[in-house]
Amino acid sequence: MSATVREVVLGVGAGIAAYKSCELLRRLQDRGYAVTVVPTPSSLNFVGSATWEALSGRPVNTQVWDNVHDVAHVSLAQKADFFLIAPATADLIARITAGRADDLLTNLVLATEAPLLIVPAMHPAMWLDPATVENVRTLRSRGYVVMEPEVGRLTGTDSGQGRFPETSAIIEKFDSITGNIRDLVGKRILISGGGTREAIDPVRFIGNRSSGKQACALATAALLRGADVHLVAANMSTQALAGATITEVESALDMQRVLMQEFPQCDVLVMCAAVADAKPVMKFTEKIKKTFLTSIELEPNPDILAELAQIKKGQLMIGFAAETSDHLESARAKLVAKGLDAIYVNDVSNGAIFGKETTQGMILSRTGADIALKEVSKDALAHLLLDYAAGQLG
Ligand code: CTP
Repeated sequence: MSATVREVVLGVGAGIAAYKSCELLRRLQDRGYAVTVVPTPSSLNFVGSATWEALSGRPVNTQVWDNVHDVAHVSLAQKADFFLIAPATADLIARITAGRADDLLTNLVLATEAPLLIVPAMHPAMWLDPATVENVRTLRSRGYVVMEPEVGRLTGTDSGQGRFPETSAIIEKFDSITGNIRDLVGKRILISGGGTREAIDPVRFIGNRSSGKQACALATAALLRGADVHLVAANMSTQALAGATITEVESALDMQRVLMQEFPQCDVLVMCAAVADAKPVMKFTEKIKKTFLTSIELEPNPDILAELAQIKKGQLMIGFAAETSDHLESARAKLVAKGLDAIYVNDVSNGAIFGKETTQGMILSRTGADIALKEVSKDALAHLLLDYAAGQLG
């Protein structure tokens, strides 16, 4: 299991296509990468630091003289797992080829040993100029991957080879370099998400704070990696999930029924849903008048995971635990009691995690390769759990 979230440096050159890299940044984040943007100083004429800082959630520097105490050209170069330079102008390509170090980005390129993908975009005459042709040939001979720009209409009226490739094509190329390829093709991943609602009467229910964001992140990540995804969604938004089979459920019993039916066919179950542990003994068909609403008698719901563990035949089972105290001990006990292969435990005291874009906690597994995660995106957690699953599935 990879020990940390994968770090990417997104270098941005001074081409009009810089604005398209905003979308590229988003897609990288969707795939669970933590991205630091390093624009060249002149690229800020096209997209400014404020945009990059807002989108990446990280500070943006262009020179080695910014935040000197961090020695970013060394620390960032060492921290990065991958470099993606998009768009790369003729000038930036020439500077990298010559080994120049006249801004932070070119310093980083010299100082890093991480794999590097360069995505050129420029006027066709500049792309075909013998100097650029020679520079690109040199970079490729040094092991850098330089994409071919696309042929088509440019910003002005000219056309030819020089267009910035489609984001999807860049991501596909990037995946082939990072090894984050479709490693779950043919695997059936069953995910539960959201929070169950236990009806009191037609209007009221007992529910919980789960938003379903983590289950969405898991489903998206599994789809990206080529899996067949079935999401059993309890009271959550599933709008952004084209490509997954979705079964909407309301209560714990609904969820149990669907999961019991689907579990035998799956390779991996990720039980992300917050299942209500108890339900009202009586479900009234008419709205209860407030004068009678003084107490609600409850009875336990089935422990779905524990029941699925009884019928398990080689499926990998990953659970979640939201705790407010004694996190690790409770989660370890649940790992064993529920027959799980791994569990992600997070501290939800003081309203943390629920509804947020980030999470922090710990992945505990039967094999003992535990991973502590400090403030990572839910997408990043999804990919880490799927890395674990892919590793176990072989
Ligand atoms: N879970 C389940 N069925 C339940 C309750 C929980 O399958 N009735 C699953 C959850 O989806 C989660 C894991 O069990 O993956 C742990 O859930 P959690 O609520 O932390 O544990 P509980 O068993 O409910 O224990 P407690 O509420 O006492 O901490």
